[in-house]
Amino acid sequence: MMKKLTVCVLAAAVGISMTGCGAITSGKRIIRISHGQSETHPEHIGLLAFKEYVEKRLGDKYEVQIFPNEILGSSQKAIELTQTGAIDFVVAGTANLETFASVYEIFSMPYLFDSEEVYKSVMQDTEYMEQVYASTDEAGFRVVTWYNAGTRNFYSKTPIHIPDDLKGKKIRVQPSPASVSMVNAFGAAAAPMGFGEVYTAIQQGVIDGAENNELALTNNKHGEVAKYYAYNKHQMVPDMLVANLKFLNSLSPDEYGIFEEAAALSTQVELEEWDKSIQEAKNIAVKDMGVEFIDVDVEVFKQRVLPLHEKMLKENPKIADLYRHIQEANEKGKGEQ
Ligand code: GCU
Repeated sequence: MMKKLTVCVLAAAVGISMTGCGAITSGKRIIRISHGQSETHPEHIGLLAFKEYVEKRLGDKYEVQIFPNEILGSSQKAIELTQTGAIDFVVAGTANLETFASVYEIFSMPYLFDSEEVYKSVMQDTEYMEQVYASTDEAGFRVVTWYNAGTRNFYSKTPIHIPDDLKGKKIRVQPSPASVSMVNAFGAAAAPMGFGEVYTAIQQGVIDGAENNELALTNNKHGEVAKYYAYNKHQMVPDMLVANLKFLNSLSPDEYGIFEEAAALSTQVELEEWDKSIQEAKNIAVKDMGVEFIDVDVEVFKQRVLPLHEKMLKENPKIADLYRHIQEANEKGKGEQ
């Protein structure tokens, strides 16, 4: 059994779709989920809750296997595996979905959400998000839920206090055109690359820094090589749990319901874990890694890149409706303050 599984997973890793990989000798259909984070990351913990929920109710039929740390490949590679059905689910940031459905470009827009509360309220509005999630159906996969990936900020080998400190700096971005425009709009030179390459690139001086949430410093150890983290708060970008569409369609209505509930539960668990882990990450980054957290004037950074909103809306009409929806949520958020 181990041998067959290894063959299947290796086939998945090199991108070969192997029908029959799901049918393992125990008679259970193996469901494979790939993600790029470590086993202590909130997303992994959320996915463990997903696994437990599904197996408790449908354990005679399904076994859920979680593959962390990009062992099945980078987000982009793992999306392709999900697309062909070589694996069933992948967790990926929206930047990786842009090439399949351009509506996802909106999350690369800097200063899109006024606050974390607004961001969460929009993402939790399942009824509205369903139509966004269905936008990759033609590509053969669909988002089933979202995970909080916090607020993205710049970090570097040298301190960043004002936007001009980014001038001429090579900053890694996720491989997406909208992320490249976003970082270039700040005056830096965007260097797109996969998440797994960032540590070495900073260490070797190929880039000066990157932009991400605090967990990148600890879970991915970037705090060992970049000691200054500036709270300029340019983005809140969700991660998505993406499923192969044929797999979803193969489920009976009852099974589908259980997978939906499992996905919603995984989000709930992930959100709770997230808040705890950010505080922990900051403590570790400061105490064990010597990282300095810098509070900056967010408004100055914001003003620098706000013209990008209009530019992006002009270039991509597909983001218009979601943009309007988010602006309404921002307005509502102001009223509630
Ligand atoms: C975060 C995010 C990932 C993303 C990564 C990156 O860790 O959760 O989905 O891939 O940043 O910057 O590539």
